[in-house]
Amino acid sequence: MSGAIPTLEDLGDVSGKRVLVRTDFNVPMETNDAGERSITDDFRIRSALPTIEWLIERGASVVCCSHLGRPKGSVDEKYSMHPVKVRLAALTPGVELLENLRFNPGEEANSKDFVDSLIHDIDLYVNDAFGAAHRAHASIVGPPATLPSAMGRLLQREVEVLLALRNTPKHPFTAVLGGSKISDKLGVVEALLETVDSLIIGGAMCFTFLAAQGYSIGDSLFEADQVDTCKRLLTLGKPIHLPEDLVGLDAQGNYATYGRRLPPGAKGFDIGPGSATAFSDLIMEARTVFWNGPMGMFEDERFAGGTRTVAHAMADTKAFTVVGGGDSAAALAQFGLDDAVDHVSTGGGASLELLELGDLPGLAALRKAPHAS
Ligand code: 3PG
Repeated sequence: MSGAIPTLEDLGDVSGKRVLVRTDFNVPMETNDAGERSITDDFRIRSALPTIEWLIERGASVVCCSHLGRPKGSVDEKYSMHPVKVRLAALTPGVELLENLRFNPGEEANSKDFVDSLIHDIDLYVNDAFGAAHRAHASIVGPPATLPSAMGRLLQREVEVLLALRNTPKHPFTAVLGGSKISDKLGVVEALLETVDSLIIGGAMCFTFLAAQGYSIGDSLFEADQVDTCKRLLTLGKPIHLPEDLVGLDAQGNYATYGRRLPPGAKGFDIGPGSATAFSDLIMEARTVFWNGPMGMFEDERFAGGTRTVAHAMADTKAFTVVGGGDSAAALAQFGLDDAVDHVSTGGGASLELLELGDLPGLAALRKAPHAS
């Protein structure tokens, strides 16, 4: 990554200007029996407010735009931005919000016509959608090709924190990865192994590693086509920590605790208490910790222990703590600990890609944007 990314200050006088702000308002929703949708977590909306308010206070008129879900290029009411519009209006009145960008196939295809329609009455562009900055979509890479542009405060903080973690972490540096799929995280695992002092693997992805080590994993979720990759990673001589004990259901569906071997028919759903303590110790001893992905199926209280222990260690350690978005952020919130870490990223895939590659399409586009006159 080279070259400076313009910030809000680089936009000059924004008074009287119409500013398109790309936000990531892809927020979780629930639908009640009457079919009404409501937002279950407005973290991403609240996180965009400093940028929106900065612009409004300086006399700009703000037009926000975002995707919501994956409607695949056609209008689908269950992905309309209406509930977000209502919440945004309550938090900061007077801001326009366009309808779901992904209702138009031009968004994901990065079509010039769609970019033109987005910017036809716009003077300036601000990207504050960190969670979508890894997508080379029209609203991310199109406007900065012609409009004076900047990163918003949220994007700026995400980039600062994650690049510091990637490039200049204080050691010992511990990374904790969980979730189900190793295939989604392979790139970041390889990148992290270059810098971390400890890489902890929990969640369902640990079963692919345990299978690679020759342990029987019963009927636990794993990725057969990734076993060879895990074998290769395990032979690099790097400090990969796998669970020593596991919690799950036996073949009859009864709650059971195991060591590293699961009998036929058993399914592992969480790391065991011994592993949780060992992982917690590594987090407490570290000076930098990055966590992405739960240790188990924490939505089910029987299998929440590992994730809860890791979340508390993240809150208690003196280390600089960063949590990648998605499920690990949801877990922190469930345990009431979201304010107890140094940084909760608004981006899941984007934070992993930035850690892996050190750059994102949305950042590269901003670096090349014309300067404000
Ligand atoms: C996310 O939730 O990670 C972002 O909003 C990106 O969404 P996407 O994976 O559908 O592009």
